[in-house]
Amino acid sequence: MTATLIDGKAFAAKMRARVADEVARVKAAGIVPGLAVVLVGEDPASAVYVRNKGKQTLEVGMESFEHKLPIDTSEADLLDLIATLNADPAVHGILCQLPVPDHIDADKVLAAIDPAKDVDGFHVSNVGLLATGQKAMVPCTPLGCLMMLRDLHGSLSGMDAVVVGRSNIVGKPMAQLLLRDSCTVTIAHSRTKNIEDVVRRADIVVAAVGRPEMVTGDWIKPGATVIDVGINRIGAGLKDDGSPKTRLVGDCHFESCAAVAGAITPVPGGVGPMTIACLLANTLTACCRANG
Ligand code: GUN
Repeated sequence: MTATLIDGKAFAAKMRARVADEVARVKAAGIVPGLAVVLVGEDPASAVYVRNKGKQTLEVGMESFEHKLPIDTSEADLLDLIATLNADPAVHGILCQLPVPDHIDADKVLAAIDPAKDVDGFHVSNVGLLATGQKAMVPCTPLGCLMMLRDLHGSLSGMDAVVVGRSNIVGKPMAQLLLRDSCTVTIAHSRTKNIEDVVRRADIVVAAVGRPEMVTGDWIKPGATVIDVGINRIGAGLKDDGSPKTRLVGDCHFESCAAVAGAITPVPGGVGPMTIACLLANTLTACCRANG
C-alpha cells in the first residue's frame, strides 16, 4: 500500500470534542440543544445508525429524542409527529431515518420538516440554498467528506473531482460542495460511458454508489485522493461452526485502490464516523440560529 490512510474516526472524535465544548457553553446560557430522530419500522441497519446517533448525541451533552414507530405507521401519523416536533422549542434538529416504508412518500415527509430544523439538509429549500451558494443546512455525509478533503489538501480550487453516484443524499450534494470549493466536477453514474476513463481523470474520487468494491485500482490516477462512502456487507466464507461470515467493504476495492492512490479512506473508520459528527455540528448550528 502506498496511500496515506485518512483517519475519519480520529477526525470525527476531534470534531465531537469541539461540539461538546460548544454545547457546554450554550448550556451555561440556559439552552440545551436537542435532536429528534424518527425511525419507522425495524430495518436492522437503520436501527444501528439510529442507536449510534442517539448515543453520540447524549455524549456531547445534547438532548436526544428518539421516536421509534411501527412499520405500519400511516403517513398522516408520521406527518403529525413531524408537525409536533416542528413546534417543539426543545427540538432544534429533526431527522427522519431513510428509507421509510413503501406506503410513505419520503419526499412528503422531508418537505414537512421545518427547513430550520432540517439537520439532514434534505428539504428542497436547503437543497436550493446550497445550489445557489447561500447559507444552507448541508447534508452530513458529503459535509464530512468535504471536511476531510479540506484537511488533507487545504484549498481544493482547480482540482478535478469525480463523484460516482447521483443520489440526493450523497452524490448530488457532494458535487455541489466540491463545485462551491472551485473543483471541476463530474458526476458519473450507472449510464456513464467508459466510467473507468472518467474516474481516471480525477484528482479526487468520491464513490457513493452502494456497489461493493466497484471502483478498482486501475480506475484511479496515481496519487489521487479516494473517498469511499460505501458501506456494504458481503459474504466472507464460513465460520468454524459452518454459519456464514460477513465483512464490511466500501464501494472501492481497498487493496488495489490503496496501491495507486495518494490517500484513501478506510471502510469502516473513514466517512462513517464523520457523518454523525456532522449531524451533531448541524444540530448545534440549528440551535444557535434558533436562539439568535
Ligand atoms: N439513510 C442513510 N443515510 C441517511 C442520512 O444521512 N440521513 C437520513 N435521514 N437517512 C439516511
